[in-house]
Amino acid sequence: MVSITINGREIKTDQEDITLLQLARSEGIGIPTLCFHKALLPYGACRLCVVEVTGGQNTKIVNSCAYPVREDGISVQTNTPKLKQIRKNILEFLLARCPEIDMVKKMASGLGVKEKRLPEKSLPEDQTEECILCGLCVRVCGEVIGKEAISFVHRGAEREVAAPFYSQSKDCVGCTACHFVCPTGAIKVKESGNKRFISPWNTEITLVTCEMCGISFAPENSGEYLQAKLGLPAEWLKLCPQCRRKVAAETMGKYDFTSRNVILKK
Ligand code: FES
Repeated sequence: MVSITINGREIKTDQEDITLLQLARSEGIGIPTLCFHKALLPYGACRLCVVEVTGGQNTKIVNSCAYPVREDGISVQTNTPKLKQIRKNILEFLLARCPEIDMVKKMASGLGVKEKRLPEKSLPEDQTEECILCGLCVRVCGEVIGKEAISFVHRGAEREVAAPFYSQSKDCVGCTACHFVCPTGAIKVKESGNKRFISPWNTEITLVTCEMCGISFAPENSGEYLQAKLGLPAEWLKLCPQCRRKVAAETMGKYDFTSRNVILKK
């Protein structure tokens, strides 16, 4: 059992490897984040989740999303003037990079940020940039889907996320997990007929057609990969979600839904 204080409140935990962020949130203490997602490993890119940790005579500033709660008796502060200033500085840069993104504008105004950090002449030419470089899309592709369809390219102001050679990646399975985790809406998915288009990855995916109702619904090139990876039943490739629900309702009792793979009862 580890006992610490957060903002003066004593909190105990016996959860191994719980992070300061998780512990604080489980106690209703808010800490802002941008690059954190509970399905992914901590990355420590945005630094919005910084907190002050004091143990003995030493105080340090750490990323709470990646800091495991192991030391008994530490004292944590989540909202000191120093931390507020760090977060403000970060938001000023983000506002300069992505001035039109609602989420960035909202966070900035919540922290009282009105100015962009860069002088007018240094602002990026493209004022419609939507990517905040949180890396969630890259990490979900690698850690959850097990692919490397996209990655960070270039450095400094040129840094961005892209598919190899800016063209359709052979690794892309068209699952749209990247779109799902993107906090700013920078990754767009459109479907037309039996095609799925994912931008900005210049990706076009052919979809399979539901055997019952004829709508296109799942990526053709990768159905089997996703089926195996995510433990989906064989019907996943044949029927769209709506028809699957219909069949399940009609055949309720014939299938065992208790395991991750739906099994036909003998
Ligand atoms: S949420 Fe911790 S560094 Fe981004």
